[in-house]
Amino acid sequence: MSSSTTSEKGSGSSQATFRFRCIACRSITGSAAQDFRCTECGNLLEITDSSWNSRNPTALKSLWRERRTLNEALDLSGVWRFRELLPVPASEEHVVTLREGNTPLYELPQSSRSTGVPRLYAKHQGMNPTGSFKDAGMTVAATFARQAGYRWVACASTGNTSASMAAYAARGGMRSLVLVPDGKISWSKLSQALDYGALTCQLRTDFDGCLRLLQELVRRAPVYQLNSINPFRLEGQKTLAFELLEQLDWETPDHIIVPGGNLGNSSAIGKALIEMLEIGLISRLPKLSVIQAEGANALVRTLREAGGKHLLSVQAETRATAIRIGNPASWEKAVKVLQATGGACEQVSELEIAQAKAEIGAEGIGCEPASAVTLTGLKKLLKRGFVKPEETVVLVLTGNLLKDPDFTMDFHRGDLFRGTAQESESARLTSFRHPPVVLDATLDAVIKTLEQAEKSDSTQKNG
Ligand code: F0G
Repeated sequence: MSSSTTSEKGSGSSQATFRFRCIACRSITGSAAQDFRCTECGNLLEITDSSWNSRNPTALKSLWRERRTLNEALDLSGVWRFRELLPVPASEEHVVTLREGNTPLYELPQSSRSTGVPRLYAKHQGMNPTGSFKDAGMTVAATFARQAGYRWVACASTGNTSASMAAYAARGGMRSLVLVPDGKISWSKLSQALDYGALTCQLRTDFDGCLRLLQELVRRAPVYQLNSINPFRLEGQKTLAFELLEQLDWETPDHIIVPGGNLGNSSAIGKALIEMLEIGLISRLPKLSVIQAEGANALVRTLREAGGKHLLSVQAETRATAIRIGNPASWEKAVKVLQATGGACEQVSELEIAQAKAEIGAEGIGCEPASAVTLTGLKKLLKRGFVKPEETVVLVLTGNLLKDPDFTMDFHRGDLFRGTAQESESARLTSFRHPPVVLDATLDAVIKTLEQAEKSDSTQKNG
């Protein structure tokens, strides 16, 4: 088992041109310790590479497009296809890939009509191999873990990171250790980790408690941490932005709206946008906005009440368990990208999340609750006048509908808000619910049900 620093082996090759840079004191090193923190000031590190700025944007665009027609393992990955702007391992054989990325960009015709935004798109990261956006970062970080010779990789998670890490560890021949809050993650996500062979610990704490423990663990045991504190994760997640711009034929959207939990994804997308601008791949920045659940609104409070200067953590509570995080690790990175792109930060209620999730489901694509904050966040940003109806808006859907079937079933059966303070208010969501109907197995019963559905459809249409 290796206990060396990441750089000795991780950045390993003599050709490696990337470096680690502290986001606060800006000191640059060729190596990173196990906790991925600056040895000078203790803040988080990011990856930088002086060779990126000398890339020719026109050549990159055509190279990346051409790779979509090729069948080489690296080109089939929607992450490694963009390797000119990523840290690359010393040898291709270290790469751990499940053909991640290459996710669809959908139009949302119904939501376009209801919001009055004709150019509204969803970039569906739930269409990744393990069903969430985590795979894009995991392929890069798992590759560097493998190159460094680690036997064990580990993460704290609200479910998706653990599912993704377990899959990539399995593919890369590594063991994985998962720390999740007991009873606060969906069974679907937990079951993925089990099936992919992770050593799964359900800890009697919340996500923030799991992450704290992991930070201590990596200082004591030779395990490689794969949380989004690991800057290789964020490098892989940058590719969402590269691929999105390619899908829009390099026409920059006005807004990108993303859910915020531990704030790694918003940081990664923002980093990619800024790098694309510097290289000349785009000529202006979209505004990147972050939406949080009201019950897990640390970034909202940090910006509104502390001017983004220090973190105001919260005791997180939301049924959107993926973003049930009160002490986001990458808050400073997120504040920086929000400021750089001019984006906003909003919070949305549990009822609003449930409604938006049903609306996205009704588009035939679906998503998990945490992803749905983007649509309801858009409505708030429209109301505030921050987004204008004539602007182009991209919602980042981070997880697949199948990630949290309990939420979906509870919603449609009318049980989601039972016994909560929102129970009576939730009655207004009835028209979004499609509960299953239990019938005798007779033709008459089915025909009668069909006729009733037809009648209620036409009543709804007419008024
Ligand atoms: N959406 C989904 C579906 C997520 O799983 C997460 C985070 C987020 C949004 C928020 O992204 O943390 O980068 O701001 N899930 C993590 C996990 C924390 O452990 O799976 P973020």
